Amino acid sequence: MASTPSSRPTSVTRLSLSHITAQNETNLLGTVHGGVIMTLVDSVAGVVAARHSGGAAVTASMDEMVFLVPVRVGDVIHLSGQVNWTGRSSMEVGVRITADRWDAVGPEVHVASAYLVFVAVDEHGKPREVPQVIAETDEERRRLREAEIRRDHRLARRAAIIESRKAGEAGT
Ligand SMILES: CC(C)(COP(=O)(O)OP(=O)(O)OC[C@H]1O[C@@H](n2cnc3c(N)ncnc32)[C@H](O)[C@@H]1OP(=O)(O)O)[C@@H](O)C(=O)NCCC(=O)NCCS
Repeated sequence: MASTPSSRPTSVTRLSLSHITAQNETNLLGTVHGGVIMTLVDSVAGVVAARHSGGAAVTASMDEMVFLVPVRVGDVIHLSGQVNWTGRSSMEVGVRITADRWDAVGPEVHVASAYLVFVAVDEHGKPREVPQVIAETDEERRRLREAEIRRDHRLARRAAIIESRKAGEAGT
């Protein structure tokens, strides 16, 4: 098996997937169920993370995801995923979701953007080191900077919640 390099450009593992939405994917209102789109997002991001890290990677977290417009049955959705940032064993993968309306020719609609953290794991499920991502374009460098801000916020929020629980247990 080929050895995993110490770094990899973003462009090498970027992935695009298109999906024609179907009748069995709707919610009670008749538009596409958000969970269907979230599953596709997790799948695309999982492939990107596995390819970047050269092996298994698990979803550690998914940030808040805002749906900007509804997706209708028959619309073609496009998902584009890429590694935005890498840490020691974790990676932030960004996925942009757009849609083409099934009955109109027009500009693509931005449906949502999602940011997921994947952790590369070994055969025992323990975190393992990942290649560092190389941002080559201005847009990739912007995404890297913004991913660092999100990482800081995630760590700060987790630390604050742990502190708050400790304080609660101590009765303070
Ligand atoms: C993700 C998992 C492997 C992390 O294990 P862990 O023992 O907490 O690992 P560590 O504390 O050493 O953290 C490893 C990395 O993950 C990151 N991490 C862990 N939990 C995280 C979270 N909730 N959000 C963001 N990053 C997280 C850490 O910051 C660290 O990053 P770094 O190595 O790049 O600095 C473990 O929690 C797990 O297996 N979770 C279940 C994942 C899963 O099954 N997902 C599918 C859904 S069913």
